[in-house]
Formats: sequence, C-alpha cells, structure tokens
Amino acid sequence: MTNGEAAAGSMCVLPWIHLCASIDGVYGRCCVDDAMYHNELYEQQDEPEFTLKEDAIGCSPRSRYARDNPDRVMGVEEAFNSPNMKRTRLAMLAGERVAACSYCYHREDRGALSYRQEINERFRDTVDFDALAARTAADGTVEDFPFFLDIRFGNTCSLRCVMCTYPVSSGWGAKKRPPWSSAVIDPYRDDEELWKTLRENAHLIRRLYFAGGEPFMQPGHFALLDLLVETGNAGNVDIVYNSNLTVLPESVFPKFRHFKSVGIGASCDGVGEVFEKIRTGADWETFVGNVRRAKTEVKLWLQVAPQRDNVWGLRDLLAFARDEGLDIDLANVVQWPADFSVTNLPEAEKAAATDELTSLVEWCAGLGWDKPAEDLRALRTFMNAADPTVLAHEGTV
Ligand SMILES: C[S@@+](CC[C@H](N)C(=O)[O-])C[C@H]1O[C@@H](n2cnc3c(N)ncnc32)[C@H](O)[C@@H]1O
Ligand code: SF4
Repeated sequence: MTNGEAAAGSMCVLPWIHLCASIDGVYGRCCVDDAMYHNELYEQQDEPEFTLKEDAIGCSPRSRYARDNPDRVMGVEEAFNSPNMKRTRLAMLAGERVAACSYCYHREDRGALSYRQEINERFRDTVDFDALAARTAADGTVEDFPFFLDIRFGNTCSLRCVMCTYPVSSGWGAKKRPPWSSAVIDPYRDDEELWKTLRENAHLIRRLYFAGGEPFMQPGHFALLDLLVETGNAGNVDIVYNSNLTVLPESVFPKFRHFKSVGIGASCDGVGEVFEKIRTGADWETFVGNVRRAKTEVKLWLQVAPQRDNVWGLRDLLAFARDEGLDIDLANVVQWPADFSVTNLPEAEKAAATDELTSLVEWCAGLGWDKPAEDLRALRTFMNAADPTVLAHEGTV
C-alpha cells in the first residue's frame, strides 16, 4: 500500500506509532478517538458507573474507570497491543472503516480534510506504510513501542475559558464539577508502572504532544522532560505544546535546549479585552510577556479557536501576529458548545461577519499569508454551511 493509497482509504498511521492517554485515564487511538470520551458522565449528580465503551482501548490503573472495568486496566505498552488496537490495525489493513475513527471519516465524506489525512501526510517522509503492514503480526500485534505519545498529565489549569469545560480544566471545577469528583484529575502522576515503562523505553520516544489542562502547570509533564534529559534521550525528541502561556517557568528553557525541537501553539483568541473575556482568568500583558520570552527560545505560533465572541476581533489578532512576527493557526474552529459557535450568530450578524472574513482573506492573500487566508475561507464556509461539521478542523496535532 502506498502512502497515497493509505490517505485515500481508511488507513491511518497512528495505531502503528502513537498512543493517546486522556486526562481521564482512558487510552485512545488518537485525541479524536470517538471511543475515548465519556465526559457526559461528569454531568450526573450522583456518581455514575464509569463503564468503558466497548471499542475503547482500555484504562490506566489509577483512573476512575479502573474500578468499574477491572479486566480492561492496562499500562501503555499493553494498551498499544490491546485487543481493540490490534483489531483496529487489522481492519485498516483490510481497507475497512473503524467506528472509533468516525470523526475523521465524517469529515472526509463531506470533502473536508481529516486529522487522519493530515497525520498520514505529516509522517509521509518518515514512515513507510508497506513496512508497517509487514511488521504487523497476523493477530494485529506490533512489536514496537509507540514513538509518538500524547499523555495528558491532568487537568490542572489556571483558567476557565468560556468554550472549555470541566473535566478538561480544573479551573471550571468549582462551577461545573459534580459533588463526587475533585476539581483536579491526574491519573498518571503516581502511576509507578507508567513511569517505569517510560524510563525503560525513553530511547524509543521521538515525539511528544502536551496539552491538558495547562502543560506548564503539570508536574507529570515536567517529570517526563526531566526523565528524557536524565536518560540522555531528549535530543531525539520533537515536542509540540498547546499552552495558555499564562504561566511559563524560566526553569523550562534549560530543559528545552536538550530537545531536538520544541514548538508552542500559544492559545490566543483575541487581543486585550477580547482575550481576557474569552480566556477567563488570563491577563493580556502577562500573556504577551510570555509570548515574547518564549519566542526567543522556541518556535511559537498563535493558536486561535475561532468562535462567536472573537469573530470581530480577528483583524486585531492578525495584526498582532504580524507585528510580533508570528504564524497564526485559525483552523481549530469551535463546534461545541454550540452556543459559542459562529454558526449560531444571528443571520444579520452572519452576513456582516461574512463580509469581514472576506476582507480578511483578501488582506492575508495580498500579503502572501496563505495559511491564515485558507483557514479564514474555511471559517467563512463553516459559518454559512447547512452542515456546519463540514469544515471545522481539530487543531494542530
Ligand atoms: C483544551 S486546551 C489545553 C491546552 C492549554 N490549556 C491551552 O489552552 O492551550 C487545547 C486547545 O483547545 C482549545 N479549545 C478549548 N475549548 C475548545 C472548544 N470548545 N472547541 C475547540 N477548541 C477548544 C483551546 O483554545 C486550546 O488551543
Ligand atoms: S487554558 Fe486551556 S484547558 Fe484551561 S480553560 Fe482554557 S482552553 Fe481549557
């Protein structure tokens, strides 16, 4: 199978190279794995049973799910070769679709680019798809360690952004958490088996994605950086972050210098008052100071979540990015909660916003700033689409 054929079919490289470990301690094929999320359980007033979906990969030993799913508790290595992960590989090799990957297929069926397609493209030059098939045993086992890890070291966060929620952010805990749950959830920090596995396999790790919660407030995140530095393996590893950059300890920079590369998508949904209104609890001046400091050390871009409350602030935000010499990613359009989506603007405002976006597209295109122009075109289509799931985009990873 060529990489081109893979992109066209159902094949995704992630089940061969990657594992996601969610805030809640459920493992996923990737961060948009439909079988991984059970957030609705936190809307119940009485503590519910934390039953895993049938096609979920499994759960970590210290997660809330461990008690209710004892036969599906596992570490990261076991998760990578769990029955559902093996089934996923075999189904993909057979050209079949996998229910847990419906987020991607839904988009592809409507002509939009999916995460699967982006990821296949990203690893096109470094991963040989034919070799992956040959390395897959008849039962779907792959005798490798996943070199690309997305471990969410808890939900600790300084903010409660209007479009975010509990359990993603502990900041929302006081207002939205049910009585039976603590504000902070962190199933990995004291998971000794996880740390042993990471140490033993540190030489095999090549890529990390950190989000959360807020990564620069996560003890587990710092511990993983330290582990890779101490074991002499940091130089092999590319790191990508999404961070609110309200907190940026100076001590992180000497650590960063050991790594192959570090990129930070600094979440920024507006300038000044718009920023502070959406990113509740954040201070604009502090954020700008941290952006200016971080960009002297690492590749940094602005990560925008276009939504109802910033559509009229995008012009100032684009100008800010130009002034600071930063790239800007506007692809992660807010779809949910629906109240925050641009699709729910009143019709008259939508028409005016369409003109505004057209003007911004022309401005960006005139500057040869192609990626923002493309993202803004997609946002305009999304806002006006009959089926608004079509062109929303899940972000950077
Ligand atoms: C959940 S945050 C975690 C990392 C970090 N706390 C931050 O804000 O960058 C990751 C990204 O998701 C975005 N985000 C939050 N709520 C969202 C929503 N409802 N829809 C789309 N993106 C959202 C944030 O703006 C951020 O860029
Ligand atoms: S900073 Fe990130 S995790 Fe925290 S509330 Fe905002 S979007 Fe959510």
